[in-house]
Amino acid sequence: MKVLLIGSGGREHALAWKIASSPLVKQVFAAPGNPGIAEYAQCANLAVMDFDGIERFVRANAIDLVVIGPEDPLAAGLADRIIGMGLKVFGPSKNAAQLEADKWFAKELMRHQAVPTAEARAFSDPNTADEYVKMRNTPCVVKATGLAAGKGVSICYRTQDALEAIDRIMRNKAFGAAGDRLVIEEMLSGPECSILAFVDRKSIYIMESAQDHKPVDDGDTGPMTGGMGAYSPTPVVNDAIMKTIQRDIIVPVIDGLWRHGVDYKGVLYAGLMMTANGPKVLEFNCRFGDPETQPLMMRFKSDLVEVMLAVADGKLDQMDIRWDPRPAISVIAASKGYPGTYPKGMEIAGIDNAQSDPDVMVFHSGTAMANGKLVTAGGRVLAVTALGDDIKDAHRKAYEAMAKIHFDGMHFRKDIGHQAVR
Ligand code: AMP
Ligand code: GLY
Repeated sequence: MKVLLIGSGGREHALAWKIASSPLVKQVFAAPGNPGIAEYAQCANLAVMDFDGIERFVRANAIDLVVIGPEDPLAAGLADRIIGMGLKVFGPSKNAAQLEADKWFAKELMRHQAVPTAEARAFSDPNTADEYVKMRNTPCVVKATGLAAGKGVSICYRTQDALEAIDRIMRNKAFGAAGDRLVIEEMLSGPECSILAFVDRKSIYIMESAQDHKPVDDGDTGPMTGGMGAYSPTPVVNDAIMKTIQRDIIVPVIDGLWRHGVDYKGVLYAGLMMTANGPKVLEFNCRFGDPETQPLMMRFKSDLVEVMLAVADGKLDQMDIRWDPRPAISVIAASKGYPGTYPKGMEIAGIDNAQSDPDVMVFHSGTAMANGKLVTAGGRVLAVTALGDDIKDAHRKAYEAMAKIHFDGMHFRKDIGHQAVR
């Protein structure tokens, strides 16, 4: 069969690698893809939001399955469009993607289904939001309700920080229309983890656990990014906690959507905090995480396309999914200045050398070819990913590989996986 993968990041590179290895697949295409993805797929110069262009491409190339990586096209209804063409798609419908695209929708659903999450209120007027944080005068978290590439969250220890966040998001429109409304919620504390599940409405398969590191600098300091590194599995979650997460969080949320007439199919990602009172939801995403997908795909041992087709066909319960028991760790190399403004076009050296160990893969996140040379083209540039006999071994391999890579202004965290390594 022919598969079209939508997206251009490290997540999509890891997915392209697995999709291309499926015996079911004759050819892989990517829109728009990147130079790393181009090793496995024919890349088409199409933007992820160019639905007309994608539809024409799908028809012209007789695509059988469309796999949608990022949230923007999902939230705008690309999966619905592909299904409307009578084709198979991996990724939830527009209605289901609201779980990520509208944080207030997600909160209301959680409240209704009694899913543990931070107490929150929504605001559409900045003055009312200002009054609320002044009145509350305790640490809080201010979030743009719409899509902001993981950067729309401000952790506010002081009331002044919260007032500034409200100003930035609502009055200065730092995230455009995504900040027309705000959620202000209680600050939780505890270790975090990312739990991803394949969902076909009737069945839920929870993948191996992972943990992301969102702040840009070591020791979880600095502004929030899309994610600076991830590893799997995480010691934060044991079998008993996983059962609680399934019973109290994943199942009631899918069930709640179903009651609203929304059929969830694809990957559901729950960002959780392990509080003293048990796991609580920080956010839902309607897709694979980036960079969690990179270590997860290193460990994934089944046929990903077979699983994606089973999800599309409602046959997930018939799948036997296997994982490499060895842990994996992925460290992001970012451009200087990310998540703020950053330069592009810096030449990248050393990837082949870094990948000389078969347990190491370098996934491209923001790269491009310019005059025959590989250059930086995004904030997050590469995800250096390694499997190891234990987490320390994976950690050592990932950082040894990272030491072989160079581009001007390269920044990476030195402490990815520190909770597990310790
Ligand atoms: P989100 O995009 O909603 O997952 O938020 C990004 C990051 O902000 C999370 O990974 C947490 O580190 C942090 N965060 C979000 N919500 C809260 C909260 N209620 N309490 C403490 N930290 C939070
Ligand atoms: N790693 C966080 C995300 O994919 O949203």
